[in-house]
Amino acid sequence: MKFKRFTLVSKQLATILPILATTMASPVVVRAADPDWVAHGAYGMVAADSELASIIGKGILVNGGNAIDAAVAVSFALAVTRPYSTGLGGGGFFMARLGDQKYVVQDFRETAPAASTQDMFVAPPASAGTRPSEIGALAVAIPGMVAGRAEALSKWGTMPLEMVVAPAVRLAREGYPVDADYVRVTKEIAKEFKKNPTLEKTCSYVWKTHLNEGKFHAVGDILKQPALANLIEKIGKEGPDAFYKGEVATAIAKTIADGGGIMTEKDLAGYKTKLRKPIKVEFRGHEFLLMPPPSSGGIAIAQMLTMLSVFPKHRDVDQARTMHYRIEAMKHAFADRAKYLGDTDFANVPVRELLSNRHAIGKVSKTRPNKTGSPDQYGTHGLVSDSGTSHFSIVDNEGKVVVSSETINTEFGSLLAVDDWGLILNNEMDDFTAQPGKPNTFGLMQSKTNAIAPGKRPLSSMSPTIVMKSDKAVLMIGASGGPRIITAVLNVALGVIVDGLSLPDAVERIRPHHQWQPNEVYFDKDPSASIETALKERGHIVSEKRKTAAVQAVRWDGSQWVGVSDPRKGGKPSGY
Ligand code: GLY
Repeated sequence: MKFKRFTLVSKQLATILPILATTMASPVVVRAADPDWVAHGAYGMVAADSELASIIGKGILVNGGNAIDAAVAVSFALAVTRPYSTGLGGGGFFMARLGDQKYVVQDFRETAPAASTQDMFVAPPASAGTRPSEIGALAVAIPGMVAGRAEALSKWGTMPLEMVVAPAVRLAREGYPVDADYVRVTKEIAKEFKKNPTLEKTCSYVWKTHLNEGKFHAVGDILKQPALANLIEKIGKEGPDAFYKGEVATAIAKTIADGGGIMTEKDLAGYKTKLRKPIKVEFRGHEFLLMPPPSSGGIAIAQMLTMLSVFPKHRDVDQARTMHYRIEAMKHAFADRAKYLGDTDFANVPVRELLSNRHAIGKVSKTRPNKTGSPDQYGTHGLVSDSGTSHFSIVDNEGKVVVSSETINTEFGSLLAVDDWGLILNNEMDDFTAQPGKPNTFGLMQSKTNAIAPGKRPLSSMSPTIVMKSDKAVLMIGASGGPRIITAVLNVALGVIVDGLSLPDAVERIRPHHQWQPNEVYFDKDPSASIETALKERGHIVSEKRKTAAVQAVRWDGSQWVGVSDPRKGGKPSGY
């Protein structure tokens, strides 16, 4: 069955573009024992959460493109094949190693419109509908995706935009077979439409194109998105201004105004990417390069690694105690996230103090090996499913690497789309502290530091991460899944570096997640009875809910690249 589906996808792709036909014929190292979510390659690797996007990225590499060319091709392909996770109406982060000691960190996160105010969701007009920070026009922040990808390509890539977006245009125009993850999400999101039938009209593009008016597409059905094909093609030919100015910007602003939102053509024309400096932390002979604010992931992961370095005996024979310490580190880091983190261009975030050994030692000294504490012992500030996010990791044969996470926030974003251009708009305004004192859609509590302000970028959990050893990039990792991104990256990195697991085993293994509030440990699959009992004996509340994140990672295993696309989301990597 699996083989049949793969043949269908391969055959279809081979007809899509000559570039892909070349790719399919390129040498691939296949190990009999590998599941299909693992790939090996001597020269290059793309691990995306969509098989078609990984194959397209590898096509670019095989045909002489570098990791940045491949990243931009993958990103536009994901807009077509994972329309609920990402797209041109979203934004994200991009980190690349371009050569010895040369790193770039690009922030193309969505930004609050000029007319936004701190309290805009506290008492919104009735016309804004229910949950206006999540659904509809007010939820939309200025998208950064097109600006980010076009800038990365022109600064660090080698190929023209028109060439790298061509596979995505063909996929959108000629269609591709949808997979199980797509079908699962459309059925999940249909519950929103059932609760609120007016969405069938106000969000008719998602309702008609993706939910098939409640009849749903089945696995293997061919999905065509001709309007999106036209938009990507136009951007490829004319560049990013085709999105931020002119008829597309006018159509976006009209959709927003008709839906009672505030983003204008001027907001779109004024969007700018930002270059940032990575957060660096040493851990067990490795150097981690992490995403700085407005991501919370880099600071949180750095804090947890530093705490785990100073715990008395972080990795010992007692598996339950090891997990307990890791969960304690999560509780401390998420309590700090809630209290201190936000966009550093607007708020005063004590980054240096949060990253200091002194701060970590202070936290660790309060930690007991056999008992967890109540939430107020970790932090006192009010605080915040895989969701509308996608991550990919890429290496090329020149040693350049890219890790990039992109998002429209929750599945199908605000549900609102610009119909004529097949453009689904994000709901990133909900990543701000939209309602002070109340958790956001991910259950995360946040502070004034992350309050809404014009031009400000909402706090993110996206955590694209590069791990170096002896000046070589050895592990590229990131995830989708809201706050669980942060702990998924930590869990997988610890699995490889501390627990000595292979990358596939580290990704597949069960993951604990604690975000301080709610005061519960979540697992993505059922924990063993012994672990559950041992955690409960230490006072942890173990949730019965299963919550997940999807990791896409590439590792150098000493002789070749190993790519892993998390089986939890159904992507597949592609290497050569
Ligand atoms: N919108 C999800 C995140 O940025 O964390």
